[in-house]
Amino acid sequence: MDRRTFLKSVTIGTVVGGAAATALAAEKYFPVKVDQSLFETINRVKNPSNKTPLEKSHAPVLTAPQTVKSGEPFAVEVSIGEVVHPIGQAHWIEFIELDIGNEPAGRIDFQPRGYLSPKVTFTVTLTKESSPQGKVTLIAHQRCNLHGYWEGAADITVT
Ligand SMILES: [Fe+2]
Repeated sequence: MDRRTFLKSVTIGTVVGGAAATALAAEKYFPVKVDQSLFETINRVKNPSNKTPLEKSHAPVLTAPQTVKSGEPFAVEVSIGEVVHPIGQAHWIEFIELDIGNEPAGRIDFQPRGYLSPKVTFTVTLTKESSPQGKVTLIAHQRCNLHGYWEGAADITVT
């Protein structure tokens, strides 16, 4: 094998191998096959200490203070996945919703354009009237067009 042929095959091998590895990694977290069973229920993380790749990229992750003061606004970040889910024309997050307890509080819809990432911040104000026991559960939902409806939650104490 002459030098030119060797360099060509090494270069092609590297490019193909790199593309295949990237595709495999992307497929692990963001599979593009539709699993209809994911649309039959509300999906949640089953074992928080051992999340599956699908759970890591689809279960809403809420970041909020553990304790807040009544009447004072605070930030609640909702990220779709600890590995943030991509948004593109074939595979995207349709919306993110935030409930305060059982009451819908707000919703953000996404278009499959690729401009936005499914990571948003809501400004929330809780009062003692909205949390008679001094605790409230914030619940976030999202729907992926290929992987169904997912839920994540965080408990907050209101003083
Ligand atoms: Fe997805």
